[in-house]
Amino acid sequence: MAEIKKVSVLGLGRMGGALAAALVGEGHDVTVWNRTPKTLPGTKSAATPGEAFEAADVVVTCLSTHDVQQPLLSKNIKTLVNLTSGTPEQARATARWAQDNGVEYVDGVIMAVPQQIGTPGAKILYSGQREHHVLHAFGEPVHLGEDAGMAALHDLALLGVMWSAFAGYLQAVALLGTEGVTPQQFTPMAVEFLNEMGVLLPEMGEETRHRVYETDVSAVDINVSGLRMLADTAAQQGVDAALPEALHDLFRRAQQKGHGAHSIASVIEVIR
Ligand SMILES: NC(=O)c1ccc[n+]([C@@H]2O[C@H](COP(=O)([O-])OP(=O)(O)OC[C@H]3O[C@@H](n4cnc5c(N)ncnc54)[C@H](OP(=O)(O)O)[C@@H]3O)[C@@H](O)[C@H]2O)c1
Repeated sequence: MAEIKKVSVLGLGRMGGALAAALVGEGHDVTVWNRTPKTLPGTKSAATPGEAFEAADVVVTCLSTHDVQQPLLSKNIKTLVNLTSGTPEQARATARWAQDNGVEYVDGVIMAVPQQIGTPGAKILYSGQREHHVLHAFGEPVHLGEDAGMAALHDLALLGVMWSAFAGYLQAVALLGTEGVTPQQFTPMAVEFLNEMGVLLPEMGEETRHRVYETDVSAVDINVSGLRMLADTAAQQGVDAALPEALHDLFRRAQQKGHGAHSIASVIEVIR
């Protein structure tokens, strides 16, 4: 059993509520504050953020944005564990504020949905000071270094993979839907295909590291042609073509840069 701590949670939204409940489940002494007054079983409610700071050794924040959070912070906080999503620069600015005000600072991001909090499936990526406070109550903490911005950078990078894959899936569902194919019919194929694509990432990553893009599998030229066909087909079938057009533009710029005969990994030469 971990050491019992006095913890205050600012923000009792979907995620903040799950975090506070997990802390209660671990036996911590929990005080909560929410803009719209709310109660949570097993916790005390603070009338103001200041009251929540007074009550705690550790303050966990989980508000909608850094902009909402920043004006609420106070040098009366002893240790701040920020779990509000933001950009690396916002995390670094909060780290500078914390250092100037004698506040210990941990910046974390939650790679899970509220229902997973408190299970081993919830990864909590964090950076800044090494944490020895409360993150274990939420899932598996993974430290990413002293630079406070690294957790946010990893968060956005991983979410970028998610948004791209999900948007690609929705594009496919819409395209097939024009001919009456249902998501139920198509989704098993998409899942199998995505799993096969995932297996290719380690090799692709190595290619980007060494910047060697020789291929006997699939060259940029053939993918530019394929993306042109996808964008044209989207337009012909009457669905939005912005996503395939954007991908076509990206791959075409790699082709124009001389990577036509190279592997898909060479597209990174345009991106970076
Ligand atoms: N939900 C997820 O699956 C998930 C996953 C990973 C990370 N996160 C991150 O967790 C954070 C919270 O997300 P959520 O899903 O819990 O959002 P949410 O359910 O919309 O809750 C937002 C929280 O922010 C508070 N808030 C909003 N504007 C405020 C203001 N001007 N002043 C004071 N408090 C304010 C809300 O208070 P009121 O109740 O008064 O509106 C509420 O407590 C976000 O940064 C999000 O990116 C969420």
